[in-house]
Amino acid sequence: MRTPLIAGNWKLNKTIDEAVAFVNELKPLVADTAGVEILLCPVFTALAATARAAQGTNIQVGGQNLYWKDSGAYTGEVSAPLLLDAGCTHVIIGHSERRGRFGVPEPDLAGDAGRVFGDTDAAVNRKLHAALQHGLVPIVCVGETLGERNDGNTDTIVQNQTRAALEGVEAAQATGLVLAYEPVWAIGTGQTCESDEADRVCGVIRVTVGELYGQAAAEAVRIQYGGSCKPDNAADLLGRPNIDGALVGGASLKADSFAQIIRAAKA
Ligand code: 13P
Repeated sequence: MRTPLIAGNWKLNKTIDEAVAFVNELKPLVADTAGVEILLCPVFTALAATARAAQGTNIQVGGQNLYWKDSGAYTGEVSAPLLLDAGCTHVIIGHSERRGRFGVPEPDLAGDAGRVFGDTDAAVNRKLHAALQHGLVPIVCVGETLGERNDGNTDTIVQNQTRAALEGVEAAQATGLVLAYEPVWAIGTGQTCESDEADRVCGVIRVTVGELYGQAAAEAVRIQYGGSCKPDNAADLLGRPNIDGALVGGASLKADSFAQIIRAAKA
């Protein structure tokens, strides 16, 4: 049995005070949720305060990104040792918003949504190695844009992104990591991937892990779904055999809706 992981990716939201207030509001709502792992991923500036507020609870804290070097002349970056220092246990890697070509918006999304910050598959791979080396649990995101889906390339995209991210990762490390299927077209759009299809693509990712590391690893690895996951669709998504949790954006910004999703995983 894989323990579901419900993670809130707050993206560029919440001050330190707001993050701490959120933890204090969430704590009593989820105090009795054994059998579900709970994770909050605030902005870097709120990590330490959020981790302190969550100390002694069943709420864990993770970063939204990291750089693969530990320290040095890398302006604006944060490393695995510094995430650990701030109290993190996890880190999101290769979120679609961090991928792509910097400043070149996806043609099928408005404004600068979609893949915006230029992380390549090779960068995702280096970040994954850094996280594993330092004992952070990585949440590696993969997923296709609407254009890629319409062209029939969904499976190829997630297979290729998964393989590229895991290049050089040992089987023993692979079982402990988390993958997240986040179709880019479903993120922040209110357009959820239908649960059968989300489960099918998570299955494709699981098979890919199996091809790389064998059946035991494929069965052990956790695969989350992310993209407009909300209290009203969470139970359906989380009830599917290949979906082991959710990576939640918008609906994780309010303690009551996030708690409802956590409870849906427990049910
Ligand atoms: P939304 O839940 O807002 O669609 O965001 C999903 C996501 O990108 C989580 O990482």
